[in-house]
Amino acid sequence: MESPFKADVLKGKVALITGGGSGIGFEISTQFGRHGAAVAIMGRRRQVVDAAVAALRSEGIRAIGVEGDVRKQEDAARVVEETFKHFGKLDILVNGAAGNFLVSPEDLSPNGFRTVMDIDSVGTFTMCHEALKYLKKGGPGKGPSAGGVILNISATLHYTASWYQIHVSAAKAAVDSITRSLALEWGTDYSIRVNGIAPGPIGDTPGMRKLAPVEMQNHYSELGPLYKVGKRWDIAMAALYLASDAGKYVNGTTMVVDGGLWLSRPRRIAKEEVRKLSRVVEKKSRNSALVSPTSKL
Ligand SMILES: NC(=O)c1ccc[n+]([C@@H]2O[C@H](COP(=O)([O-])OP(=O)(O)OC[C@H]3O[C@@H](n4cnc5c(N)ncnc54)[C@H](OP(=O)(O)O)[C@@H]3O)[C@@H](O)[C@H]2O)c1
Repeated sequence: MESPFKADVLKGKVALITGGGSGIGFEISTQFGRHGAAVAIMGRRRQVVDAAVAALRSEGIRAIGVEGDVRKQEDAARVVEETFKHFGKLDILVNGAAGNFLVSPEDLSPNGFRTVMDIDSVGTFTMCHEALKYLKKGGPGKGPSAGGVILNISATLHYTASWYQIHVSAAKAAVDSITRSLALEWGTDYSIRVNGIAPGPIGDTPGMRKLAPVEMQNHYSELGPLYKVGKRWDIAMAALYLASDAGKYVNGTTMVVDGGLWLSRPRRIAKEEVRKLSRVVEKKSRNSALVSPTSKL
């Protein structure tokens, strides 16, 4: 699908995208590149990062790939540094790196819980921490008043409760909290806008392949028409909005991009039934109000 944004909305910007080699992160990298940004991709698997960079370059996008683990502070510092050395500045940091798997709480070891917290929550903070020097107004490659942008990729799991994802729910709740705190503190002190995106289920991603493998998909039909899968494009367009000047007054929000799915509940009573019932109930209550001694109060 064509982007509704002008091709130069990120012209001259440099973006670092963790988890940018696959899934949603790769789509964000691609769309940022198509809209004028130079892109650095971070991930642990060399071959994934290399393949992504080759695909971006084949479109004429300026891109580099840097291997690294967001759980390691020295990796975070090195990747940020290499991005700066290569492109001369850093304007946008997207924290997309995450881990996930389905498991019931009793089968999840504390170590497994900790690993996901380490990647999603601590990793997000570590990347922000190491990038601050370059993202803040007046930092290397930055003007005296313009700071950069941080986008944290979250989820909607923790808005209610999600089966078999206690670890990710906790980790993404922390990510949302980090988004708000940094928006307040770094928005005030360094003119950095910090926002998040909470995707619903997005098709053609490693996340969906793991969490809703084909073998399990018949269970989703229980949700019937309420269950809709989004596209990676939908998330990348939200990222473009928030990272570009279109979102210049947006700070501290986590934008839900799920077609309203997290609000969905099965419809227990048919609409026609409700219309009929409400007429009867209305009539009843009017009649009882006529005879009730309290109706004059
Ligand atoms: N897919 C969905 O439906 C969905 C829904 C809600 C939220 N999300 C969120 O959207 C983001 C992308 O999800 P996705 O489904 O597109 O999955 P994905 O491609 O598997 O995203 C994970 C990426 O992060 C990288 N990564 C993982 N651990 C890392 C680490 N320790 N250090 C550096 N990089 C690391 C992975 O590369 P390496 O393994 O090579 O490091 C991979 O490129 C995630 O934050 C996810 O929680 C996805």
